[in-house]
Amino acid sequence: MTDAHIAAVGTSPLGWTDLPGRDLFSRALAETFADLPDPAEVVDALYVGAQSERYENQIMQGTLLAEWAGLQNRPAERVEACAAAGALALKNAVRDVRAGVHDAVLACGVEKMTAGGTEGATNALAAAFERALEQRSGITAPSQYALIARRYLHETDVTEADLAEIAVKNHRNAAANPRAMFQREVDVETVLDSEYVAPPLKLYDCAPVTDGAAAVLVTSERLAADLAADSVRVAGVGTAANALAVAESNLTYLEGADVAASRAYEDAGIEPGDVDVAEVHDAFTVCEAMLAEAVGFAPEGRGVETVRDPAERSPGWTDVHINTSGGLKARGHPIGATGLTQAVEAYEQLTGRAGDRQIPDAGTALLVNEGGLADAHTAAHVLTGV
Ligand code: COA
Repeated sequence: MTDAHIAAVGTSPLGWTDLPGRDLFSRALAETFADLPDPAEVVDALYVGAQSERYENQIMQGTLLAEWAGLQNRPAERVEACAAAGALALKNAVRDVRAGVHDAVLACGVEKMTAGGTEGATNALAAAFERALEQRSGITAPSQYALIARRYLHETDVTEADLAEIAVKNHRNAAANPRAMFQREVDVETVLDSEYVAPPLKLYDCAPVTDGAAAVLVTSERLAADLAADSVRVAGVGTAANALAVAESNLTYLEGADVAASRAYEDAGIEPGDVDVAEVHDAFTVCEAMLAEAVGFAPEGRGVETVRDPAERSPGWTDVHINTSGGLKARGHPIGATGLTQAVEAYEQLTGRAGDRQIPDAGTALLVNEGGLADAHTAAHVLTGV
């Protein structure tokens, strides 16, 4: 098996933009290849993460993005698992390179979520939930996660103010991230005073509706050394599908995320305590707390304590820094591209390019990207510096 490396990364602006999906993708591609030969000279195949065709009434994104990138006549496929699509594109690229099928594969994702406003995005996202009972009852992403948050607050000592600290920390990190959608800090009062979207979740507990694209070039170790001054190694991969229906889901323990992360740790030969930085799927603040527990960063019911500086945490917590990018909450959540924006942050941390938010000596990163309700589908990756 060949080692897979990430040789280059790029994103479009993330936020509310006038740019159509094509321009978002072009911006991400241009940044990725800024210091490399033309994509057509490098890329053997392409995987595209895209959540929904409803935003721009467009399927066939594999072919389309290959055409836009000048990459015709090579394999190009769309991957779909709602918000986990981007990480699944990355996983497929890594699998192909590790197996020696291709030397260089582009994993990319794009979503033009604002095309139909918040209402259009809400309807498009509802397609990720179980149809027979739950969609027809009018359930939305925030209301599904509100059920989880209610149960979590009921079964633990965690309060809405504790969850607010997660939003505050992620906005603070985003303020130091030039890629982030919301480059502004907020305080706990602002979060707690914001309007309820679906109680107990308020505006500042929610990731925003975001336009954006991201691209990650995955290559063999040899090609990465030829192409780029810096690369990072994809040391571990793990995925797991759990359940789509909220009625079938465990509302307090994200078993699918636990399984996917455990597979990625095992593949990489590491333990949770080895992870320096992690990008985890904080679509809603409660998710970050629950994921911190599921992937082994904190004991059950105490994931919120990972917002504290490592020196101030209780024994039993790891020293990991979570969502240094600002997370989905404040960097933004362009659904099909989100898993790849996580990889972009890890690449920048592991290559020392994270500027004011750089974690000193960051050597190992965990990425956890989820699709559907909570851990309906989880894709986890471990990346290491070289
Ligand atoms: N966090 C902080 N501020 C936000 C925000 C967010 N998530 N979303 C919007 N805002 C701010 C805007 O900047 C704007 O501020 P301004 O008045 O100072 O300009 C204001 O709130 C209104 O923005 P708007 O876009 O009209 O909000 P909205 O009420 O239409 O949408 C949500 C807000 C939370 C309902 C929407 O962002 C949402 O649905 N988020 C969840 C997306 C989702 O489910 N993703 C998938 C998860 S699996």
